[in-house]
Amino acid sequence: MSRRTLTGLFAIAAVMLITLGMAAAQETPTPTPSIPTGTPAPVELNCDPAELIQQQTDLAAQLAALKLDTSEEAGVTLDRLFKVGEAYQELALNCGYIPADAASRNVGYDIDRIMNALETVYGDPINGQLLYNGDLGCAGCHEAEVPLGPPTESTYTRVDEERLQDPAFEGYTVQHYLVESIIDPAAYVVPDYQNVMVSNFGDRMTLQELADVVSFLESQDS
Ligand code: HEC
Repeated sequence: MSRRTLTGLFAIAAVMLITLGMAAAQETPTPTPSIPTGTPAPVELNCDPAELIQQQTDLAAQLAALKLDTSEEAGVTLDRLFKVGEAYQELALNCGYIPADAASRNVGYDIDRIMNALETVYGDPINGQLLYNGDLGCAGCHEAEVPLGPPTESTYTRVDEERLQDPAFEGYTVQHYLVESIIDPAAYVVPDYQNVMVSNFGDRMTLQELADVVSFLESQDS
């Protein structure tokens, strides 16, 4: 066999190997990512376990029914997949699950859920004061010359000694009252004031920021 033929054979063999390799690589399906099994913080179950399992089963059925046959359906299917995923997360959150990154997520509007998650973060009153006077604009209403809202000073004392005497707040802590005042201001309108407080803070504050602002208000105890 001539040297040239040998080189030719080698070249053909190399091309075949590469092609085979590529085919093999294409055939190996991407493995399904397995869900990591960490040990999340223990939670207090806030829901009925039987109901949770039922809802989870319903979602599983919806997932099983998804089809990805044609490209027309692909968009719809992926959208559905994404939303079912979110619905699963809601189930866990409604049941008391606190995600590891809870502090950096927007707090939302579910007061029970917020009170539960607040136990996992420490509020920083100094940062709370910065937020209160700055970006969140609380001071603009509570500290103005003609204030729209009750004064910042003595908030803790006023809530503890006056507001919580109202039977409507039976079982409330000062912290619970403050959280509700900030996240859902219309739930209770302080006598002699108008219902004009901004009601979108659930979308504008993280859990950490809320904890900071609340601990700042709790420090107003003169
Ligand atoms: C647009 C004006 C406005 C802004 C901005 C505003 N508030 Fe208020 N706030 C009010 C008014 C008016 C009330 C009283 C009426 C009510 O209960 O909703 C009030 C009530 C409260 C109360 C209850 C006080 C009490 O004496 O019972 C708290 C706590 C509070 N606000 C905190 C905040 C915080 C924290 C922010 C910023 C994140 C903020 N507010 C932003 C107008 C405002």
